[in-house]
Parts: sequence; structure tokens; C-alpha cells
Amino acid sequence: MNTSSVNDLRLPTLSELGTDLLTTTPRQRWLSLPAGGEIDVAREMTRTTLNIVLATMLPGSSVGDPARLERAIADYLESTSWVMALTILGAPRWVPYPGMRKAARGRDFLKQFVADLTNEIPYSEVPRNDLLSLLIRANDPQTGRLMSETDVRDNILTFVMAGHETTALALTWTFYLLSLHPEIEERVRSEIATSTGGTPVRGEHIESLRYTQQVIQEAMRLYPPAPLIVREARRVLRLGTENIGPGTLVYVPVYAVHRHEGLWDRPDLFDPDRFAPEAVKARDQYIYLPFGAGPHICIGMSFALMEATARLAVLLASLRLHLRPGYIPRPKLRVTLRPAGGMPMRLVLYGRLQHPSYGARPTCNGPEYTERNG
Ligand code: HEM
Repeated sequence: MNTSSVNDLRLPTLSELGTDLLTTTPRQRWLSLPAGGEIDVAREMTRTTLNIVLATMLPGSSVGDPARLERAIADYLESTSWVMALTILGAPRWVPYPGMRKAARGRDFLKQFVADLTNEIPYSEVPRNDLLSLLIRANDPQTGRLMSETDVRDNILTFVMAGHETTALALTWTFYLLSLHPEIEERVRSEIATSTGGTPVRGEHIESLRYTQQVIQEAMRLYPPAPLIVREARRVLRLGTENIGPGTLVYVPVYAVHRHEGLWDRPDLFDPDRFAPEAVKARDQYIYLPFGAGPHICIGMSFALMEATARLAVLLASLRLHLRPGYIPRPKLRVTLRPAGGMPMRLVLYGRLQHPSYGARPTCNGPEYTERNG
């Protein structure tokens, strides 16, 4: 009997993945930009993460036209706030909303994208441990039935969507917060220099980059890439003073929990020391939920933290990113928490003379800036 399941999916370690993927894109490309060039960090991070997710989970696949793919994802996600609002109101699924056709086109494109991906990967008789092979072999523990082709594709789409935008956003908001806090960025840089001894970042360095990882964890507290978790009650529940009936949607407002004054000291302050091991041990684990909790906790959590730490280290080792002067990113909830309008930042090679206006911090920004800096 075939006992294979998706739980057998073992995401590779950084050494197995090879630092090539992390170093060649986008660092190499960025280094070839004219000095002082501005980039949209959100878009850059998304592109690289998508490449990494595909190379890791579906080796042999390719992205094709990344701009078209990004547009399809954005169009599809854009519709989600309407879908959510209509669901709360109990409206039937056919009720139209703005952008419905665009969203449907985006969804069709994504489905076709995954169909092409699965067709293009060389079929192998030898059992492999990549996502596609595991899904094809996975069977229902009760009935023993294998997944249909549509189920396999839908699952792949879930992994691709869940596994790239989130990590990209964690990095995007981290770069944003670091650009507002040069003293914290310096601490990260110094940790990288100590761990690597000035050599290129390699897989074996990642575990010692503890503070760098704390910075990412704290960035995900202030800007959780998945700021809202939704569940549907299966049976009658009592939550505090409320009775919840079956079929009721329950929203876990991760963003609000992460910034709740009753749970965190000076919650709007960016302070990576909150994630020092003793501080983490001293508090309730359920007040920090960037990866969810319980049976559906993110399957890619360790991989995402490792990937984000490695990429931050690789990039910060040789360059700085300065937010466009005066730019205030507006977080926008569309399943994920994106900066509306992107994250325009100027690239400065480490050690190169900086333009004074880009070194300056914005005069007005979120409390995570003002609280710390007066
Ligand atoms: C910083 C990066 C990431 C964040 C913040 C994140 C966040 C989350 C959250 C909050 C959930 C739970 C959703 C819920 O309870 O309804 C989740 C589930 C999931 N994540 Fe992630 N994720 C990240 C990276 C990844 C990566 C890299 C992968 C794949 C390689 C991945 C694959 C998944 C899958 C498949 C699920 C569904 C698990 C289930 O329903 O049992 N995620 N993620």
C-alpha cells in the first residue's frame, strides 16, 4: 500500500539549496544597476522568493514571464477583500463586485501556470521528494484514494502562493524598518561580519545569525505577512463570553494581537530584543502568530525563517537600502499585508559615499519610527 503523504515533504536546508539562488538574484542584478538606483524592494523580493519556492519544491520548473505572473497574483488577491465582505454578509457567490472579471482572469492564469509547470517537469519513475512527486503519490488515509489531477494542481498553487509572497513581505518590511533604524542595521551587519569572518555568507553561518533572525521576527510582529487568520466553527463553541454557532466565521486578528497594548510593552516600538530567547520564554506563545498555530500552523515556517535570514545576510553584507525620502508606506490587507504603492528604496553599495538626503530619515512616519527616535 502506498503510504506516502505530503507530511513527508522535507524542505531542503540552505546548504542543499545552495547559496547560488540567494546570491545571484537579486544581488548580482542590483550590483549592476547605476549607482544610487531606486528599486521597488517589494517586487524584487517577490521575484526572488518565487524563484526559490519553485526551485525548491518543483525542481526543473521555470517562472516564464514574471511580470505577467505578478499581475495575475495581484489581480486575484485584490478581489479578496470584496469576497470576504460579501461572505460576512452571507451573499451568494454569484453577487458581482468590482474587479470580479479581472480576478477571474488572474485565477485562470494561475491555474494554467500551474498546469504548465506540472506538464513541463520531467516525469521520473524514481520516487523523488519534491512537492509534485509527493502530491502525486499521496493518498487519503481513510479511502486509500490518490488525489485527482485537479487536487494536485490546486495544492501546488496553494504552496506556491503561501510560500512566496509571505516570505517576500517579511523581507520587504524588514528592509523598511531597518532603513528607519540604522543602529539596529549596524548591529545586524556586525553580527554578519562576526559570523562569516568577512567571507561570503554560507549555509553553515545561518544558525549563528541569531540577532538577524530576531530582527525578522520583530518585523513580522509589526507587519505580519498574513495579518488575519480565518476559521469556520464546525460545532457550537464558547469563546470568552460569546457562544459561536456552527458555520460562523471566526477571524483571528493577528495584526491587532501583535500590537495590543495589553499584551506587549510599547507595542509600536521596533525592538528585536523582544525575541531574545529569555524574553520569548517569558511570554505566552499565542500572542505571536505570524505562522498561525495549532494543526494548520505554517508547514514552511522553518524554511521561511532560514531563507529570510540568509537573504537578509547576503544582501546586507554588501549593500544598504534607504527608503525614498518622505515616503510613507501604507499597509494594505489583501490576504497578505502589502505596502500599497510598493517599497521604493535606493540602493547604496556598502562603503560607497551616500547622498545626504537618502541618509536622512523621514520626518514623519509610523510610531515604530517616532517612539524610538523621539
Ligand atoms: C514568512 C513566511 C511565511 C508566513 C508569514 C506564513 C504564514 C502562514 C500562516 C499564518 C499560515 C496559517 C494559515 C491558517 O491558519 O489559516 C500558513 C499556512 C501555510 N503555509 Fe505558510 N507562511 C510563510 C511561508 C511559507 C512557505 C515558505 C511555505 C511553503 C514552502 C508555506 C506553506 C504553507 C502552507 C502549505 C500552509 C497551509 C497549512 C495547512 O493549512 O495545514 N508557508 N502560513
